[in-house]
Amino acid sequence: MKKRILFVCLGNICRSPAAQGIMQSMIDKNGLQDQFELDSAGLYGGHAGDLPDHRMRVHAYQRGYNLTHRSRQVRISDFDNFDVIVAMDDSNFSSLKAMAPTLDAENKIVRMIDYVRGFPQYDSVPDPYYEGAEGFEIVLDLLEDGCRNMIESLQ
Ligand code: 4NP
Repeated sequence: MKKRILFVCLGNICRSPAAQGIMQSMIDKNGLQDQFELDSAGLYGGHAGDLPDHRMRVHAYQRGYNLTHRSRQVRISDFDNFDVIVAMDDSNFSSLKAMAPTLDAENKIVRMIDYVRGFPQYDSVPDPYYEGAEGFEIVLDLLEDGCRNMIESLQ
């Protein structure tokens, strides 16, 4: 059975599509396509249909990731259709908890930062939207670290 993982942030144009792209690239490189299925979504639907933010696409591309996901809003059926729902920050985590239709669904929600080992000074994957280049780079650093450990722990 494939593990179905949904990455969630606010807009689904920066952090969660980057997490999806990074983890998919790791899965492809390691031949793990039969073990994982990934998607991402946002709690705010205002960017639905959009490609990831141009700045995130540029920073990700410089590390070899091609981000092609189209933004969509989280839906209630996601709680049935995914095994693990990964929140980027505490606000995303609380919003998802509030949306979860059952206790089983609530228990699927985890925090991305809990999989990150190398950056103890961070307690979330911070929203880079109003930040400069450095904000995007740190998001990618955190996600590369977290995705690597998440694959290891879910495999
Ligand atoms: P994300 O970043 O949650 O990492 O996709 C954001 C994108 C858009 C907005 C906020 C955060 N926004 O308010 O439009």
